[in-house]
Amino acid sequence: MENIRNFSIIAHIDHGKSTLADRLLDLTHTIDSKKMMPQFLDSMDLEREKGITIKLKSIRMNYNCKPFGVAQGKDYILNLVDTPGHVDFSYEVSRSLAAVEGTILLVDAGQGIQAQTLANLELAKKQNLTIIPVINKIDLPQAKTQEVVEELVGLLKINESEILKVSAKTGENVEQVLKAVIERISAPKKENLEKPFRALIFDSDYDSFKGVIAFIRVVDGEIEINQKIKLFATNTHAEIKELGYFNPGRSPQNKLCAGEIGYIATGIKEPGRVRAGDTIIKTGAYVQSLSGYQEPKPMVFASFYPESPDDFVILKDALAKLKLNDPALTYEPETKEALGRGFMLGFLGTLHVEIVAERLRREFNLNLVISTPSVVFKIIDTKGEEKFIYSASDWPDVSKIKETQEPWVLLEIITPSIYLGKLMEILKNLNGVYTNTQYLSAERAIIIYEVPLRGVITGLYDKIKSVSQGYASMNYKISGLKPGKLVKMEIWIAGQKEEALSKIVSENEAYREGKFVVEKLKEVLEPEQFSVALQAVISGKVLARETIKARRKDVTGYLYGGDITRKRKLLEKQKKGKKLMKGKGTVQVPAKAFLEIFKNQ
Ligand code: GTP
Repeated sequence: MENIRNFSIIAHIDHGKSTLADRLLDLTHTIDSKKMMPQFLDSMDLEREKGITIKLKSIRMNYNCKPFGVAQGKDYILNLVDTPGHVDFSYEVSRSLAAVEGTILLVDAGQGIQAQTLANLELAKKQNLTIIPVINKIDLPQAKTQEVVEELVGLLKINESEILKVSAKTGENVEQVLKAVIERISAPKKENLEKPFRALIFDSDYDSFKGVIAFIRVVDGEIEINQKIKLFATNTHAEIKELGYFNPGRSPQNKLCAGEIGYIATGIKEPGRVRAGDTIIKTGAYVQSLSGYQEPKPMVFASFYPESPDDFVILKDALAKLKLNDPALTYEPETKEALGRGFMLGFLGTLHVEIVAERLRREFNLNLVISTPSVVFKIIDTKGEEKFIYSASDWPDVSKIKETQEPWVLLEIITPSIYLGKLMEILKNLNGVYTNTQYLSAERAIIIYEVPLRGVITGLYDKIKSVSQGYASMNYKISGLKPGKLVKMEIWIAGQKEEALSKIVSENEAYREGKFVVEKLKEVLEPEQFSVALQAVISGKVLARETIKARRKDVTGYLYGGDITRKRKLLEKQKKGKKLMKGKGTVQVPAKAFLEIFKNQ
C-alpha cells in the first residue's frame, strides 16, 4: 500500500490535462507505443471530435522511481483519474476527487487561472486533497509563465518553489510531475487494510455479458473474485464475475485491496441498481456505508421523444444505461399528445444536453425530437399553491397565475480587464445585477454578477468567448429563486400549435425571441405545396409572423405554346388542391429543424 499513489488532474477546459496524461503514460510505458495516440484517454469518438473530455477516466500506471534517486529503485503504482474541464461535467470531477488523495492543478501558461481552475480547486480543497500546482504549455511563444506563477502564489498562498513548470507537448519537466506525485501525495492509510471491505462506486458502465461494471476505490479491506457482495443503497446482492484494474482496458486480477482503484463486474443486469456514490460491502458484513456524494441537482430540463413511437422502449433502456456512465443525468417518463411517450430529462447545462442527445443517437441509434432546454420555474397560483414547472407545456393559463419565479445564479467571469466593458454590457442585457469585482493581477479581473439562469443556458458561454476573443471564462452557482415577469410563448405552424417549441420567456424579451424563432423556422423548414404561416403567440396575441411561400409545382410545364386559358385552368385547379391540403395540412417539423432552433436560441 505504501507504494500506491492515487491522483487526478484538474484544470480549466483545454489547459492540457489529457496531453499531460499522455506524457505520464509515455514515461510509465503504460501504453504500447504502436497504440499510443494524442489525448489517449479521450477514447470516446465524441470527445475526439469535439476536442473535449466528457468522461472521467481511470488508469493504472507502474513506475520505478530510480531516476530521481528517491527511495532507491522502488516500484510505484500510480492510479490516475483524468477529469473533464467544462462546467457542465463538474460532477465527473467531484466523483473522481473522492477516489484519490491528491490532485495536479494544471494551469495554461498562456491563459493563467480561469473560472474552472477556481471551481475545481474549491472541490479539491473540500476533499482535503494534496494539491500540486503545475503550469503547462511553457513552450508557447505567448506563455506568461512568471505572471501565472504570481497568480498561483497569491491564490494558493504557497512558495514559488512548489510550482512546477512543464510542457505536456514537448515533455519538458514532466518527469518532475511524477516525482512530485510520489513525494507529495500520501499513500493510502495502511490501517484500512485490516478493516472489513468497503468500496466507493465512483462511476460505472454496462457490459452485455458481465452486467454493470462498477468503477471503485477500495477504501477498506480486500475483496476477491467470486465473493458475494451487497450494494448498500439499493440493497442489491451479487456475486463478483470479474475484478481488476484499468491499464487502459480491463485487466482482470484475483484480488483488490484497500487503496486500489479498479472495477468489479457485478453481473447485475438492471442498471438502476448500481449508483455512483453507493458503497459495496461483502454480503453479511456489518459495516456503515461511506458518505458517497452529494447528488447533483439538474438545472436544465428538456423533453426527449423518439421520432418513431416504437422506439420508446429502446429509449428507456438507453437512458438507464447512459445514466450508469453519466450519473448527473435524470429522467422521468412523460406523455404529450403531439409527441406520444417520451421522457423529461434533467441536465447540468446545455452542453450536457447536446452530449446526451448525441450519445443517444450514436451509441443507441435513436432518432429523437428534443424540446427547447429550459430551466425549472416556480409558479404561485391564484389559490396560493406553489408548483414547479419543468416544461413550457405545463405552464398554466395566465388567469391562474399570481406570481412566477425563476432560478438565479451567481456568475463568476475571469477576464483580461480590457474586455470588462463589453462583458458588463452583455450581463446588463441579461438583467444581471452587479455584485463585485476582484483583481487576480493588474490586468486580470474576476467580475461577479447575479443573473437569471435562463440567460446563462442560452448561449452565454459562446457570447463571452466571442467578445473576449476566447480569453474570458465563466462559472456559476445557483443562488436561489427570484420573482420574474415570465410568459409562455407558443409557436404556431400552419395554424397548429407546435408544443415542443413553446418556451417560457421574460415579458420584455418576448418579441425578440418570437421573431428569432419564426425567422429561423422559415430558414430551416422546406416549403410545402401550400403557404405556411409561422407565428409566435403570447396569450392568444401574435407577436411575430413569417410566411413560407408555397412551393410552385409546375403543373403547366407540359403545355406547348401559349394556351393561356388552359394554363389558367390548371393553375386554378392547383390552387384549389392546395387549399384542400392546407385545410387538413399539417407540417411535419423534422428533428433536424428542432435541433437547429434549440442550438441557436
Ligand atoms: P478538456 O479535457 O477538454 O478540458 O481539455 P484538456 O485539458 O484535456 O486539454 P488537452 O490535453 O485536450 O489540450 C488542449 C490543447 O492544448 C490541445 O490542442 C493540445 O495539443 C494543447 N496542449 C496541451 N499541452 C500543451 C503544451 O504543453 N504546449 C502546447 N503548445 N500545447 C499544448
